[in-house]
Amino acid sequence: MSSSESRCRVAVLGATGLVGRTMIQVLEERNFPATEIVPLASSRSVGQKVHFRGEEFTIQEPSREAFRGVDIALFSAGATASKEWAAIAASEGAVVIDNSSAFRMDPDVPLVVPEVNPGSIFKADGTPELIIANPNCSTIQMVVVLKPLYDRYGIKRIVVSTYQSVTGKGKAGRDALESELRGEDQEQFTHFHQIAFNAVPQIDSFTENGYTKEEMKMVNETRKIMEDDTISVSPTTVRIPVYGGHGESLNIELAREFDIDEVRSLLSASPGIILQDDPSARLYPMPLTSYERDEVFVGRIRRDYWHPQTLNMWIVADNLRKGAATNAVQIAEVVLARKA
Ligand SMILES: NC(=O)c1ccc[n+]([C@@H]2O[C@H](COP(=O)([O-])OP(=O)(O)OC[C@H]3O[C@@H](n4cnc5c(N)ncnc54)[C@H](OP(=O)(O)O)[C@@H]3O)[C@@H](O)[C@H]2O)c1
Repeated sequence: MSSSESRCRVAVLGATGLVGRTMIQVLEERNFPATEIVPLASSRSVGQKVHFRGEEFTIQEPSREAFRGVDIALFSAGATASKEWAAIAASEGAVVIDNSSAFRMDPDVPLVVPEVNPGSIFKADGTPELIIANPNCSTIQMVVVLKPLYDRYGIKRIVVSTYQSVTGKGKAGRDALESELRGEDQEQFTHFHQIAFNAVPQIDSFTENGYTKEEMKMVNETRKIMEDDTISVSPTTVRIPVYGGHGESLNIELAREFDIDEVRSLLSASPGIILQDDPSARLYPMPLTSYERDEVFVGRIRRDYWHPQTLNMWIVADNLRKGAATNAVQIAEVVLARKA
């Protein structure tokens, strides 16, 4: 909080975007003790209004002055804007929680999922780091489920295939699907190919090793968050024409033997997880299950048919919520709880 204890100013950079709007909604729903919102976006949106707890706030462009007196700055305007503004916001005294890829692999910046590694938010002296990174949406939902399994059995290897919502590519990604469904001609496909009635096995550009950048984020971010460079992650990321959330099929090789009922109990008792696993009742999570929900949903849990020390499961989470906005607000809650 700022010098006056009762005041807490929260800046949202990218306030007109899918994630930024969700951040404001989540701050309100979770009764985050913000007394003022400072909504920031590009020059295209200056003057537009956003509402928070019945009050109206006007969008401005980011500037040093806009960050003055801000306690928490939630960034979701892409990596370029983050690189331009994070140090400035931090120098004005804000704790920056950044949703972009700008700082995730910076060794000096913690990469945080509160259910997994909340302790890394703070420096040795107990004060919060000034820049904290929010992981990629596909990574967040996966590590929430991996953490209790890792603690109990150890993890050797994960093979993951994703089924990712068009909202993962922001307003442009959502609008592209709607435009294609209306049959409008596309100058260029936002998802590389037609996404309507299709599935595109490419998210972001390819790297030299044949994996996409999205896939390599899942590899590198998982190891950083779990603080274990021995975990192998082998991902294939796919865009599909859905709203609601991202699905992931996981094949997890554990380091020790497991009992399948114990796995179910362990997951259902873990924070941020909802178990929906009753095939006889056709109960398993789907993207629409997770829409506007903050938890990670897990189902289809079964032992790998060929590898008895390996688990299969299917997980789903709302990429705009737990995959982005909710995770960032949870980090802010941890920061404020320590300051209080
Ligand atoms: N969508 C997801 O599921 C998801 C998940 C995790 C992380 N993220 C990350 O969150 C960020 C935002 O994603 P999104 O899905 O919300 O995208 P989006 O819907 O396209 O929104 C982008 C936001 O950034 C603003 N913006 C763009 N350039 C700017 C600039 N130079 N200065 C100030 N504001 C600028 C836009 O303002 P205008 O409206 O004025 O253009 C808009 O508010 C990205 O870094 C993305 O990688 C997204």
